[in-house]
Amino acid sequence: MKLRKFVDPLPIVDTVEPQQKNSKGAYYEVQMEEFTQKLHRDLRPTRLWGYNRQFPGPTIDVNRDDPIQVKWINNLPAKHILPVDRSIHNVAHHPEVRTVTHLHGSVTRPESDGYPEAWYTKGFKEVGPFFERERYDYPNKQRATLLWYHDHAMGLTRLNVYAGLVGMYIIRDEQEKALNLPKGNFEIPLVIVDRSFNEDGSLFYPRQPDDPADDLPDPSIVPAFLGDKIIVNGKVWPYFEVEPRKYRFRILNASNTRGYQLSLDSGQPFYQIGSDGGLMQKTVKINKLAMEPAERVDVILDFSNHDGETIILKNDLGPDADPEDETDEVMQFDVSVPLSGKDQSTIPRILTRIPPLKENNITAMRNLKLLGSTDEYGRPLLLLDNKKWTDPVTEKPQLGATEIWSFINITGFTHPMHIHLIQFQILDRRPFDLDLYNEDGRIVFTGKATSPEPNEQGWKDTVAAPSAQITRVIAKFAPYTGDYVWHCHILEHEDYDMMRPMTVIDPEDL
Ligand code: C2O
Ligand code: CU
Ligand code: CU
Repeated sequence: MKLRKFVDPLPIVDTVEPQQKNSKGAYYEVQMEEFTQKLHRDLRPTRLWGYNRQFPGPTIDVNRDDPIQVKWINNLPAKHILPVDRSIHNVAHHPEVRTVTHLHGSVTRPESDGYPEAWYTKGFKEVGPFFERERYDYPNKQRATLLWYHDHAMGLTRLNVYAGLVGMYIIRDEQEKALNLPKGNFEIPLVIVDRSFNEDGSLFYPRQPDDPADDLPDPSIVPAFLGDKIIVNGKVWPYFEVEPRKYRFRILNASNTRGYQLSLDSGQPFYQIGSDGGLMQKTVKINKLAMEPAERVDVILDFSNHDGETIILKNDLGPDADPEDETDEVMQFDVSVPLSGKDQSTIPRILTRIPPLKENNITAMRNLKLLGSTDEYGRPLLLLDNKKWTDPVTEKPQLGATEIWSFINITGFTHPMHIHLIQFQILDRRPFDLDLYNEDGRIVFTGKATSPEPNEQGWKDTVAAPSAQITRVIAKFAPYTGDYVWHCHILEHEDYDMMRPMTVIDPEDL
C-alpha cells in the first residue's frame, strides 16, 4: 500500500503532568491501554497499544536530582494485537499480555529498572518471578539528556514496542540551561520508527519468517523486521513548518530493527551537541548521522539561510537499495513560517567536560562474542557468548569497578549493544578476519584499532558493534547493586536470545 509523503503536520508530543507532588517528589500515573490513532491522512485509524492512549507516549520532563515516582498501570486487554510466538521463553506458560516498563539509559535501582521477568498483567493479577511492583522510583541523579521508556517484557518486547509502547523522558540541568541552546517551541523531540500496515489500517507484523522452513511453530519469531513506512512522532512521513532560525532536535531511533543514516537534502550539516548520555565535550559538525535502534542524538539545525525552502530529512539506504523502497526519506521541513523574533540562541563550540574512564583502574576485561546459531526448529538463534538468557549469570561486575567489555561480532551484521544502569565510553573498534575465525576460531586482526567517530566520543548506553570487528567499551558499574541486563537492541534479537542477565555485586559480600 502506498501513502503520500509529507501531507500530515508533525505532531509535537505533549508532556505528562504529575498526579501529585509530595516530599518524595512528583508522582505520576501512566496507563497502558489499547486505542486507535490516525497515523496518516489516507490511512484508517490504527489499533495501537500506548501509554495514556497516545503514540508515542507522553514525554516525562524532569530536572536533575528531582526524584519522581511513576506507577505504570497495565490496562491492556487479555489478547495481544500481534502474533505471539508461544515457543520461546516459556511464553506458552504465561499470560499472553504482560508488560514491564524500562527507562532506557536511566540510573535506577534494580526494582525500578524493568527487569524482563518483573512483568505483570492487567490489575496486577499475575506477576513475574521478580520484584512484584508497578510503582517505580527514578532518582534522576544523572546528567541532563533524552532517555526513553519502553516495554521490556520477556519474550514480548518486540511486539509490545511495535504495538506502540514507547515514550520519551527528558532530564534537564543547570549546565545545559546555561548554554543558550534553542528552547521552547524551538526544541523538538523526534521519535523515529518504521512500521508496515494492512489495507484496513492495522499494523502489519509478520507471523513467520519470509520463507519458513517446514513445521515451524505458528506464529514464529522473525530474526529481523523492517517496516516499509517511516513514522515520526506518530505520523507517517510528516512535514514540519519552521522559521528561518536555529532549532534543537532531540532524535530517538525507537525502531525494532532498522538503523538510519540521516542527512539533509539541502546539504546542510547537523551540529551534534549530545549523545545517549547527554552533552558531548565539543559540538560536532556532521553531514551524515548513523543511528542504530535505541540511540539518541541531540542536534541543532540552522534554517536561517534557507527561508522559503523545503528540506527533506533523508535516510541513505546504500548502493544496493531497492528503487521501490520508500524509506529513503523520513520527513520534510518547510521553512515557511515568518521569524517570530530575533534568534538569540547559539551553537556553543565547547559544551562540557567528560573525564576519560580509561584513566581508572581496570578491574575486569570481558571478551563477549556475538554469534548466531540455530534452534531445534532450524530457526536462527542469536546468542551472547554462546549463552541463553536462562544460563547462569556470568557478568558480575563489582560495585564501583571499572571494566572493559569487548564485543566480538562474528555474525554478518551490526548489533547495537546496550547495557543497563550505566553510561559507557567507546574505546575503539578493530577489524579481524571473519573467514579465518570461522575456519579455526582464531582472531587475526586485519587492521589497527580505530577511535570511535567524533560524535560517539561522549556518554553512550548503546553502541554499534559491526560485523567482523571487536568493539570495546569501558564503564564504571555504580551506584547500585543487583540484577540488571545487557542485550542487543534489535528487538527481534533481544527476544531470541541476545539478552543476558548481569548482576552488580557488592565486593563486601564476596
Ligand atoms: Cu532500551 Cu534493555 O533497553
Ligand atoms: Cu536500557
Ligand atoms: Cu542483534
